[in-house]
Amino acid sequence: MLASERDQLKAEINKMAKKYDHHRSGLIPVLQLVQNVSRHISPEAMQDIAEAFKIHPVEVQGVVSFYSFLSTEKKGKFVIRLCRTISCDMAGKEAVANQLENELGIEFGETTTDGMFTLEFTNCLGMCDQGPAMLVNDDIHTKVTPEKVADIIESYRSRFGAHVIQGEHA
Ligand code: FES
Repeated sequence: MLASERDQLKAEINKMAKKYDHHRSGLIPVLQLVQNVSRHISPEAMQDIAEAFKIHPVEVQGVVSFYSFLSTEKKGKFVIRLCRTISCDMAGKEAVANQLENELGIEFGETTTDGMFTLEFTNCLGMCDQGPAMLVNDDIHTKVTPEKVADIIESYRSRFGAHVIQGEHA
């Protein structure tokens, strides 16, 4: 991260800390902001957050390690989280997982070298009757089949944004 980017992020951190009156209730929103902007929480960011909230960096580190959506390792622009809980497992999660790995050339827990995609497993997403289910950032995809995987990945390679993927909730 460039010095100017760090300064910019530090300014945002301080602004949010002020908004929460430096109260710990602002920690998660600030960490989410940093995760979204930098795609990870760096040691420098933890330091800046600790200073902004007037707490020890170890406390910030503790929060980061507790929540799976926060990471100290840089993740891809798109984080794919495939549900591994029983309903999705029985609905064919393994075949979808294999296809995702083949399509991206990485294993679960890894990020593509172009920094675009990270593959992870997650627990139940609350869409058990429509499994296999997976999240791509905030977008939920249901009834995913190995045949659909290439198109889903391509749709993210070619665009950003949209929070709902039309036609996949039925
Ligand atoms: S078991 Fe996969 S969404 Fe609930």
